[in-house]
Amino acid sequence: MSDTEGFAPQWLSLREDADAEARATEPPALLGGHGALVADLGCGTGAMGRWLVPRLPGPGRWLLIDRDPALLARAERGVAAPARTLRADLAALDPSDLDGVTLVTASALLDLLTGEQAVHLARTVVRLGCPALFALTVSGRVEFSPTDPWDEAFAAAFDAHQRRGGRLGPDAAPLMAGVLRGSGRRVRCFPSPWRLGPRHPGLTEAWLRGWVGAAVEQDPALPGRAYLERRSRAHAEGRLRAIVHHTDLLALPPRAAERGGDSAGPRPARG
Ligand SMILES: C[S@@+](CC[C@H](N)C(=O)[O-])C[C@H]1O[C@@H](n2cnc3c(N)ncnc32)[C@H](O)[C@@H]1O
Repeated sequence: MSDTEGFAPQWLSLREDADAEARATEPPALLGGHGALVADLGCGTGAMGRWLVPRLPGPGRWLLIDRDPALLARAERGVAAPARTLRADLAALDPSDLDGVTLVTASALLDLLTGEQAVHLARTVVRLGCPALFALTVSGRVEFSPTDPWDEAFAAAFDAHQRRGGRLGPDAAPLMAGVLRGSGRRVRCFPSPWRLGPRHPGLTEAWLRGWVGAAVEQDPALPGRAYLERRSRAHAEGRLRAIVHHTDLLALPPRAAERGGDSAGPRPARG
């Protein structure tokens, strides 16, 4: 994977409550008894596990995968289930690393991938023959209240920034859904919007700065300082609301596979 940016634990912590509120609640109920060994790809500090463990029938075991060792150490401490960690770049992940996995999860990850990486990941899921839950993928839609005449220009530049270096950004969920459907998975997409505003003041402020900063990096001609000043003032006065749309994608194996008839079949656990 070409992305070499680090993700600060402070940022991941700042967003965890809004993420938890945003996550679609239907998927866990549709996962049935598939949680025996859950792989969390790009686990960060383990937010996905903290949210999902109490929503699965049993704690199961977790395989936490990230390329950042400091985040992995936090994740191992923070997930309330037996967990082991694997430091790996997902681009170089050996499919045998996921042997025995009964559920693949990832959260806030898909939009960072290139098309090639996403297809590789989809094929891995198909090969495992298990369900997958890809949560909180940006969809590229932001709704502000109150609106500002420059919102659309900043949003377009931000989306272009998300697609830099061949990353999928807002194209990730539709592409993943298409590839998985094409391989016979039953795919459902659920909205999982962040609802930013006075209830999440720290996150709203940090997101606003990051969003405007990325847009200006993409298009330096944008009036970033004036726009950020207007938006920050509205936020400081408690008037700003932003709905940042995301998608949670659930992929289930074909029904026959759930009865053990998938030729890809779940792979046996190692050791
Ligand atoms: C936006 S954070 C999300 C973290 C966590 N899943 C959450 O929901 O809070 C993306 C995570 O993916 C990891 N990541 C990104 N690209 C990766 C790669 N190529 N290989 C392994 N981990 C990667 C980052 O280190 C980071 O922890």
